[in-house]
Amino acid sequence: MMENIEKLQEIIDNSNNIVFFGGAGVSTESGIPDFRSVDGLYNLKYKYPPEQIISHTFFQYKPEEFYRFYKDKMMCLDAKPNKAHTFLAKLEEKGKLSAVVTQNIDGLHQAGGSHTVYELHGSIHRNYCTKCHTFYDAEFVKNSKDLIPKCTKCGGIIKPDVVLYEEGLDDETVTNAINAISNCDTLIIAGTSLVVYPAASFIRYFKGNHLVLINLSETSADKTADLVIHGKVGEVLSQIKI
Ligand code: OAD
Repeated sequence: MMENIEKLQEIIDNSNNIVFFGGAGVSTESGIPDFRSVDGLYNLKYKYPPEQIISHTFFQYKPEEFYRFYKDKMMCLDAKPNKAHTFLAKLEEKGKLSAVVTQNIDGLHQAGGSHTVYELHGSIHRNYCTKCHTFYDAEFVKNSKDLIPKCTKCGGIIKPDVVLYEEGLDDETVTNAINAISNCDTLIIAGTSLVVYPAASFIRYFKGNHLVLINLSETSADKTADLVIHGKVGEVLSQIKI
């Protein structure tokens, strides 16, 4: 492990255009469950399979059940940024990191101080009325007295700006993420099972020098990475000096 940390230190010392590509494993050290680990959301015993709940069709036909699950399990408003988030913010501040590309919707990178964050799957912090498009913040949605939050102007149902299954990703976010990945010299992939597409496919645009992978479990990119560290991303990154 120590040898790997030294290698990572050397890569980071010699890179000035790093991109970080992350997933739910980046926020588990903040107390937010991931999806596919044994204690992840998709392994919960629930009335409906969680993977079905967070789909467009389910939101349309059973918004109440959607919001029961979503507010309870996915809107973790008390979670705080962990060592991975704050490390990345510092790396950006030092001019060494050009972007964080994340599949997470929790807003913890921004809360930790990062500025250039491309949220491929949206954010719990942006919510819009499905009829008149009025904006609402996460607190409004979480604390609405009806289970289904409704627009105070027109009474329409409010929908989180989160990419549900069957929905497409935002074009501009995708373009920005691909540009960042295509132009960086080091790509650090962390805390993601790399099984959800198209997000996982974006790492194929990388043509820089060092591909680093930090993940608790094995992934399909282990074979292609120059450096693979099986560990907790916050614990690993906090050992790097910048
Ligand atoms: P997953 O739950 O599929 O994968 C999380 C990965 O992080 C697993 O491989 C874990 O082993 C690893 N992990 C957990 N804690 C870690 C830690 N502290 N340090 C390092 N690794 C850790 O989550 P994602 O890959 O993000 O999409 O899932 C992708 C998408 O699937 C999500 O964005 C979500 C979900 O359906 C939507 O909701 C659209």
